[in-house]
Amino acid sequence: MTMELLTDPRHVAIIMDGNGRWAERRGLPRSFGHRAGVEALRRVVRHSADLGIRYLTVYAFSTENWKRPRREINFLFGLLREYFQKTVEELHAMRVRIRIIGDMTPFPADVRDLAAKAGQRTRENGGLRLQIALNYGGRAEIVKAARALAAEAREGSLTPAEIDEDRFALYLHTAGLPDPELVIRTSGESRLSNFLLWQTAYAELVVTDLCWPDFDEAALENALTEYRRRDRRFGSVRREK
Ligand code: IPE
Ligand code: IPE
Ligand code: MG
Repeated sequence: MTMELLTDPRHVAIIMDGNGRWAERRGLPRSFGHRAGVEALRRVVRHSADLGIRYLTVYAFSTENWKRPRREINFLFGLLREYFQKTVEELHAMRVRIRIIGDMTPFPADVRDLAAKAGQRTRENGGLRLQIALNYGGRAEIVKAARALAAEAREGSLTPAEIDEDRFALYLHTAGLPDPELVIRTSGESRLSNFLLWQTAYAELVVTDLCWPDFDEAALENALTEYRRRDRRFGSVRREK
C-alpha cells in the first residue's frame, strides 16, 4: 500500500445494505443475510485498520428501520448482542476504539450495556476509530443539536450569532471526528437513507452492486481506488494535476 492511503481518506463511512437480498437470492431467510453481514463487517474493520484508515463509521440500524417486522428487529438485537460479546476482544487486540452514534435508548438494556462496555474497554485505544450507527438518523441528529443550542441560547450561555458551522458540529454525535471523505453504499442503491446528512456535505459517494455480505477486502480497495480517481473541487475550479 502506498503511504498516501494512510492519510486519505481518513474517514470512510459505509451504508451496509443488501443483507436481505443476499439471502433471498440464495433462497435463505433474511436473517442469514444479516449473520453473513456481521462477518463482512469483521473483515472490513480488520482491513480498514490494516490500510491505516483512521475512522470508519458504519450504518447498522436507522431510525427508519423500526418499520421492519418485530421478528427481524429482535434478530438484529440478538446479532448485536453476539457481536459485542464475541468481537470486542478481537477489536481491542487490534487497538480499535469503538463508539456508538445514535440513540440507543429504545434498545434492550443488556444490548445497551454491552455497547457501553465495548466503548469502555476500547476507549484508550489509539488505532482505528469505529463508529457504529444504531438507531441513527441524520435528521434526528440535527434536530437534537438545534434543540440543545436553543436551550443554551435561552439560558443565556450562548447568543444566536455565536452559532456557526463549527459550533453546530460540536452538538452532533460525530463531534470531534473529521467529516467522511468517502461514503460507500452496497447493493446498488444510490441514496443516503438519512445517513450523516450534515457530515457528508462534500463526501464522495461510491456505490457498488455487491450486497453487503459479499463486500470484502478487494471491494474496499476498489472503492478506495474509485475515490482516488475523483476530482474533489469543493466548489472551486479544477485541481492542477
Ligand atoms: C442492511 O440490509 C441491514 C440493515 C438495514 C439492518 P437490509 O436488511 O436492508 O437488506 P435489503 O436491503 O433488504 O436487501
Ligand atoms: C439503510 O438501509 C440503513 C442501514 C444500512 C442500516 P435500508 O435498507 O434501511 O435503506 P432503504 O430502506 O433502502 O432506504
Ligand atoms: Mg436495505
